[in-house]
Amino acid sequence: MKNTLALTLAAALALGASLTSTSSAQDAGKVDFEKQILPILKESCFKCHEKEHEDNGKIKKPKGGLRLDGAAVIMKGGKEYPGENVVAGKPDASWLVKTMTLPDSDDLAMPPEGKGDRVTPANIDLIKKWITEGANFGAWKGVE
Ligand code: HEC
Repeated sequence: MKNTLALTLAAALALGASLTSTSSAQDAGKVDFEKQILPILKESCFKCHEKEHEDNGKIKKPKGGLRLDGAAVIMKGGKEYPGENVVAGKPDASWLVKTMTLPDSDDLAMPPEGKGDRVTPANIDLIKKWITEGANFGAWKGVE
């Protein structure tokens, strides 16, 4: 009886060890773009940074030429800072983050003054972490 217990315990430990070495366990601490970042952008930025579409008979173009509704267009960036909207590994060089942290009075503060609540510091930290980790979109492609 004692031996069986010891064996079971050893097997359980071995299983635990093999589980922690799988890649899914390694990814477990990483920020998930679709689950954690996309909702922030939807709430604070999509209103002005989506693909050109019609709204109440009006053509709405993405402001500043920047779209945030797809992985490729997020990396492509806008008119003023093409290729610098998200710089993988460098949150401080990424305009997505910079515009969120600029003071209200700055023309490039996002969302623009009076056009929505600023992104919370906790959510800005989350976006910075996602960029530091390599700005990985996982399986998400969004709108092409
Ligand atoms: C109410 C509309 C509005 C909302 C909401 C908004 N933006 Fe903007 N955004 C603009 C406008 C207008 C410009 C162009 C500003 C300019 O060129 O002076 C712009 C430009 C930008 C640019 C510069 C793009 C480039 O390369 O020229 C970035 C980056 C940006 N926005 C990010 C964001 C982020 C991130 C959010 C959400 C936190 C957001 N915006 C929410 C209106 C908006």
